[in-house]
Amino acid sequence: MRLLVCGGAGFIGSNFARVRVHDHGDEVVVLDKLTYAGRRENLADLADSPGFALVHGAIEDAQAVASAFAESQPDAVVNFAAETHVDRSIAEPDAFVQTNWLGTHVLLEAARQKGTRYVQISTDEVYGSIGEGSFTESSPLAPSSPYAATKTGADLLVSSYVHTYGLPAMVCRGSNNYGPFQYPEKLIPLMVLSALHGERLPVYGDGLQVRNWLYVTDFAHAIGCVLAKGVPGEVYNVGGPDECPNLEIVNRIVELTGADPRLIEHVRDRPGHDRRYSLSSAKVRTLGWEPQVRLEDGLADTVDWYRANPWWWEPIRSGEYRDYYERHYGRALSTD
Ligand code: NAD
Ligand code: TYD
Repeated sequence: MRLLVCGGAGFIGSNFARVRVHDHGDEVVVLDKLTYAGRRENLADLADSPGFALVHGAIEDAQAVASAFAESQPDAVVNFAAETHVDRSIAEPDAFVQTNWLGTHVLLEAARQKGTRYVQISTDEVYGSIGEGSFTESSPLAPSSPYAATKTGADLLVSSYVHTYGLPAMVCRGSNNYGPFQYPEKLIPLMVLSALHGERLPVYGDGLQVRNWLYVTDFAHAIGCVLAKGVPGEVYNVGGPDECPNLEIVNRIVELTGADPRLIEHVRDRPGHDRRYSLSSAKVRTLGWEPQVRLEDGLADTVDWYRANPWWWEPIRSGEYRDYYERHYGRALSTD
C-alpha cells in the first residue's frame, strides 16, 4: 500500500510507520509539523527504505497537505497528527484547537476530493471517565480536558464526512499507549527517565487513577486491521490488556530501575483529572486483532529501551523539555 501518515514523526505514528514498512513493505510518506514531539530521529532507520519520505508541513496548511497527497498518491491516509498532552492542553489550549480540530478538517477535505480511505487516530479520552465496566463504541461522548474535547470534535467531523459525502473513513480510539520513542512528558517515560536520574517522581493527587495500558506495536497492528478490514463509518475501540493505577506503575518503575522509593512524591492533582479509563475491544477483535504484550513485559522492555538509548533522550532533556519541566513541575531537571 501507499500510505500518507500524518503525525508520523511522533511516538505512535513512527512506531506505526516502522511496522508498515518492515512488516508489510508499504510505501510510507510522513507529513509532520515537527513540533517538540515530532522528531526526525524517530524515523532515522526508515530513511533509506524504498518509497519512504518525510515531508515537513502542518495538517492545517492546505498547500502542505496538497503537496503531501501529490507526493504520496496514497491508497489511504492515517492521521496521528495532534497536540497530545493533557497538561499542556490545560495550560495552553489554542494549538489543540488549531491542529486537532481545524487540521483534521483540512485533511478530510483533501481526502474527500480524491475519495481516499481515511483512518482517524483517536483516544479513549473522548468518553471521559468511567467508574466500573468499559466503554463501548456506543458509549456517550463526554470529554473532560481541552485535549479530549478537540479530539472529540475531530471524530465528529470524520463522522459528518462519512454521512454527508460518503468518505470511506473510520475512527480508531486507543487507550494509553507506552513503549519506545514516547516523549518524556507522559507518565511512563517521564518516570523512567526521572528514576534513572535520581529525580523526584511526581504522582498527581493520590495516584489511584487507573489507565488501560496498550503497548504501542499492539496499537499499530490494530490500526493495520482497521485499515485493511474496517467498515467505513465505523468506530473501533482498541484497549490494552491491562489496567493499572498510576502509583503501581511508578512503583514498578522504581523496582525496574533500582531507584530509591523515597523519590516518589505526591503533588497537586491535575484539574478535572479523569479517574479511570477502560475500553472494550470486542469490536476490533472481530477484525482479527489480539493484543500480544502484557503490561509486565512491555514495561520492562520499555525501561530497557530508555536505558539503552540515551542518544534519543539526551537532546530532549537539554532542549524545550527542560523549560517545560521547570514550568510544570516548578523545579529544574537535575544536571546530567
Ligand atoms: P506525539 O505527541 O508523540 O506525536 C504527535 C505528532 O504530531 C508529532 O510528530 C508532531 O510533530 C505532529 N504534529 C503536531 N501538530 C501537527 C500539525 N499541526 N501538523 C502536522 N503534524 C503535527 O503523539 P502520540 O502519542 O504519538 O499520539 C498520536 C495520536 O494518537 C494522536 O492523535 C493522539 O491523540 C492519539 N492517541 C495517543 C495515545 C497515547 O497514549 N499517546 C492514546 C490514544 C490515542
Ligand atoms: P499521561 O501520560 O499524561 O496520559 P493521560 O493523561 O492522557 O492519561 O498521564 C497518565 C496518568 O498519569 C494520568 O492519570 C496523569 C498521571 N501523571 C502523574 O501522576 N504524574 C505525571 O507527572 C504525569 C505526566 C502524569
